[in-house]
Amino acid sequence: MLDNFPHAVRIKKIIKETPLVRSYFFEYPVRAKPGQFVNVWVAGIDEKPMSIAFDDGKNYMLSIAAIGDMTKVLAHKKVGDYIGIRGPYGTHFSWKPGQRIAMLAGGYGAGPLYFAASKAVAQNCHVDFFLGARSKQHLLFSAQIKKLKNTRFLPSTNDGSAGFHGTSVACWAEQIKKGARYARVMTCGPELMMKAVSDIAWKKKIDAQISVERYMKCGFGICGNCCVDDLGITTCQNGTVMPNSVARKIKEFGAYHRDSVGRKHSF
Ligand SMILES: Cc1cc2nc3c(=O)[nH]c(=O)nc-3n(C[C@H](O)[C@H](O)[C@H](O)COP(=O)(O)OP(=O)(O)OC[C@H]3O[C@@H](n4cnc5c(N)ncnc54)[C@H](O)[C@@H]3O)c2cc1C
Ligand code: FES
Repeated sequence: MLDNFPHAVRIKKIIKETPLVRSYFFEYPVRAKPGQFVNVWVAGIDEKPMSIAFDDGKNYMLSIAAIGDMTKVLAHKKVGDYIGIRGPYGTHFSWKPGQRIAMLAGGYGAGPLYFAASKAVAQNCHVDFFLGARSKQHLLFSAQIKKLKNTRFLPSTNDGSAGFHGTSVACWAEQIKKGARYARVMTCGPELMMKAVSDIAWKKKIDAQISVERYMKCGFGICGNCCVDDLGITTCQNGTVMPNSVARKIKEFGAYHRDSVGRKHSF
């Protein structure tokens, strides 16, 4: 990590990945591990946490959905424009060389898990990559995941337009039923999806790493905005990636989260 001030970076490349998501590439001086995040500052608008979707050793890639005030402004940025970046922050995914791993991703969770898969297969791991989306056009990084060695790409869509018709968790459960065995499962995406992964992994005694996110402000453990009931741990420092045994002690995991002023919202 550098320090906790935003560093101005020049956007080198932008790729439109899906109707909503754009990937932004820029040089950054600190190397990241899969699962870590940075805080992105758009001057005059806001600052938001964003997962690092790839680090090639010189450049970061962030993949961002244009859904609200800050991200819609970001969607109008051009190559050559500057944004502020601080971090990287948080914990990261890990594995042992040669493990067979199931990865379950939804939404922008595809980025950190694609990053993790590319590193894990370089250490002879075998990955079953379960990528879920509402329809084919929202499947993020399909082309890149398909190209990874030692990786089986298992997409699923809610409308059946590509791959398994249903959720990525149902697709994973079907593979387990057919006899697939995993040393580890990693998940990053919508919380209800991750809760379902957590439940199956717990029942089947599969070692699991879960990415638990809450509303973040500082990103490095001082504001307390991302603390979770009842443990009181911060998800920016003690997460986002945590062992299933810890995630399952969080009373609000899969039940509710809090907004910027601490109001509860059910999932
Ligand atoms: C660790 C982490 C990694 C993330 N990675 C990505 C990513 O890779 N790509 C991506 O598109 N988005 C990512 N997000 C979500 C992102 O931080 C923003 O929340 C989202 O882009 C909406 O911001 P907005 O200002 O455009 O919209 P807003 O209208 O401000 O927010 C829309 C919704 O996003 C959530 N949200 C807003 N601000 C925050 C915040 N500071 N922390 C957590 N949730 C918030 C709230 O549920 C809110 O209702 C990540 C969030 C976290 C916590
Ligand atoms: S975001 Fe401030 S403590 Fe986690």
